[in-house]
Amino acid sequence: MDFQVLKDSVYSSPAFVLDEIEITRVLDILAELRTQCGCKVLYSIKSLPFSAVMDMALPFVDGFSVSSLFEARLADEVLAGQGSIHLTTPGIRHDELDELSSLCSYISFNSLTQYQRYAEAAQTQTSIGLRVNPKLSFLQDERFDPCRQHSKLGVAIDDLSRSICLDQIQGLHIHNIFSATDFRPLIKTIDQLRQHFGVELAQLEWLNIGGGYLFGQIEDHRPFVELVNKLIHDFGVEVYIEPGKGVVGRAGYLVATVLDSFVSDGETIVILDTSVNHNPEVFEYQRQPELHEHDPDGQYTAILAGCTCLAGDVFGQYRFKEPLEVGDKVVFKNVGAYTLIKANRFNGYNLPDIYLSNALRVKKLKHYDYQNYRRQWVVD
Ligand SMILES: Cc1ncc(COP(=O)(O)O)c(C=O)c1O
Repeated sequence: MDFQVLKDSVYSSPAFVLDEIEITRVLDILAELRTQCGCKVLYSIKSLPFSAVMDMALPFVDGFSVSSLFEARLADEVLAGQGSIHLTTPGIRHDELDELSSLCSYISFNSLTQYQRYAEAAQTQTSIGLRVNPKLSFLQDERFDPCRQHSKLGVAIDDLSRSICLDQIQGLHIHNIFSATDFRPLIKTIDQLRQHFGVELAQLEWLNIGGGYLFGQIEDHRPFVELVNKLIHDFGVEVYIEPGKGVVGRAGYLVATVLDSFVSDGETIVILDTSVNHNPEVFEYQRQPELHEHDPDGQYTAILAGCTCLAGDVFGQYRFKEPLEVGDKVVFKNVGAYTLIKANRFNGYNLPDIYLSNALRVKKLKHYDYQNYRRQWVVD
C-alpha cells in the first residue's frame, strides 16, 4: 500500500480503505491450498460482511460461513447459488429455524440440547453437524478462548463421544484458535479428535476445522497440506476451513485527520476525526492499533485520542519524527477484521466512507449520511 496515496485528498476523512491487492493475495494462497490438498474454503463473513469483499472472494471459495439469519441472508444474496452456506451459533432461534435450514446447507449445532431440539426438523433440508470443543486451549486470554473453563462454545469432546455415535451426524465443526501464525494448534487438535474417535471419523461426511489461522502470514503451508491430505485419505471426509481475519485483517486501513492538538498534564493529546467507534476492539480489549506514522526512534510523543466524549476513547501513545499538526493525516494499519462490523455512531459521529484501492484506481464504495443515522433512531 502506498501510504502517501492513502493520505491524498482523494480520500475523505475518516476513511476505511480496503486493499484489493492484499485480499487477492490471500485468496490466491487459499485457492492454491484448495488445489494442493482438496480442502474446501469458506470466507467467514462475520469479520467483514461487506458485499465487495464477498464478491471478490466468490471465485476463490466454496461458500461462506455465517453466524446468524441476517448473515445467512446476505451470504445467500451474494452467492446467488454459487456456493454453500455453513452456520454455527449458540443462538439458533426456534422461529428462524426453517429459514436458516433452507438458506444454510450445513448447520453445526453448538450443544447437544440444541441438536436434540432442532436436528430432526433441520435435517430434511440441511447437512447436520455438531460443534465440538476439543478441550485444548491455545490462548492466554480467555476472552478469546473457545475452550476456556465453562465454555459456551461446542460440545465437550468427552461428552460428545459418550452421547453420540458419529453415524448420527454428517459433520463435526471445530474452532479453537485466534490469529495463529503456525499450524501446531491444528495438528494437536486433530490428534485429539483422532484419539477420541479413531476410525469412527470415517462415518462423517465433513469436518470443518474453523477459522483462526492467518494463512496469508504463514510461510510454510506444508504441515497444513499434509494434515488435510491425511484426513481425506484416512477418513474420506471433506475438510472445510473458514478464515475471516486471515482474509481481510491486513487489508484494512483507517485514515484519519488531526482535528486538534494540546497538552494535558505534560503529554501532547492529538484528537482525531475518528474514534474507538470505528474500531471498538481498541477499547473492548485495551489493544493499541498499529499506526503507520509511529517511529520508535521519533523524538515527539503524542497520545492519539478519538473525538467522542468517552474519556477512554484513546488509541494509545505513539512516537513521531515530526509533531503532528492540525490537518495532518494518520493511518491505522491491519484493521480489516472485526472493526467496521462492530463500528457504531456513538455521539452522532458518522461511520467512515469505505474505499477499495488497487494499483490502478481508488473507488469509493460506500458513504453513510445523516439519513442512515436518522433511520436508526427516529421512531417508525
Ligand atoms: C466458528 C467460527 N468460525 C470462523 C471464525 C473466523 O475466525 P477468524 O476471523 O479468526 O479467522 C470465527 C471467529 O470468531 C468463529 O467463531
